[in-house]
Amino acid sequence: MKHEILEKNSILLLIGILLVVAIGGAVEIAPLFWVNGTVEKVDGMRPYTPLELEGRNIYVREGCYVCHSQMIRSLRDEVERYGHYSLAAESMYDHPFQWGSERTGPDLARVGGKYSDEWQKAHLEDPRSVVPESVMPPYKYLALTPLDYRDIEQELKTNKAVGVPYTDEEIKNAKADLEAQADPNSDGADAMQKRYPKAQVRDFDGNPKEITEADALIAYLQMLGTLVDFKTYHADAPENRR
Ligand code: HEC
Repeated sequence: MKHEILEKNSILLLIGILLVVAIGGAVEIAPLFWVNGTVEKVDGMRPYTPLELEGRNIYVREGCYVCHSQMIRSLRDEVERYGHYSLAAESMYDHPFQWGSERTGPDLARVGGKYSDEWQKAHLEDPRSVVPESVMPPYKYLALTPLDYRDIEQELKTNKAVGVPYTDEEIKNAKADLEAQADPNSDGADAMQKRYPKAQVRDFDGNPKEITEADALIAYLQMLGTLVDFKTYHADAPENRR
């Protein structure tokens, strides 16, 4: 039989294998050059508010991703435990994304609103005060450290440079918006919420005297997974078809 020639000649077989793999690769990669985008548009998604962005930076700095993933897979046990599976659009403004695969702790993609701010603060200060069997390390210093947000404008500009659609107005108001979100009595909250729909405004760490790293981190945790309304979202809705 003819394929014996291939099987008995390792060089020929190698060339054959490379050819097949190359075709397979081309079939997967080539369409990406012609589709408009690989991420479908989803209502509700918006860039992070300045305060959420700072909170996210602390999340990355502290290595929370080492123990927590932020990607709910489309498997029944995951969806029943964590909620609707993650959409690509939900991490489209993440640079870098926080999907992860290690889960020493639970997935956090939809942890927003699951607990009160007080719980989050107590849990960060001393996880075992609220979850006795927890192995999560304490982050007590976050609530004691004032947030350094002097470079928040640059932060937004940098994100814009890699594709996050921050407007000039949002960049100009970054500092004011950050302060407005952490202060329930501020005058700037309305304007901030117009720029960032569904932004939650309050004193996240319960200390009105200063904006701390805990304020930013809790603001970030409390918005995770809250932007897309899954009561009205349909994966096969007309606007999601191409
Ligand atoms: C060494 C691993 C580890 C690290 C690092 C870690 N965690 Fe955890 N985390 C856990 C474990 C385990 C749990 C489950 C027990 C508990 O609730 O404390 C948990 C639970 C949580 C929960 C509650 C989730 C839920 O749905 O009940 C939140 C929120 C959380 N962690 C946030 C953070 C943040 C923010 C950081 C970084 C500042 C962080 N974790 C760092 C291990 C970790």
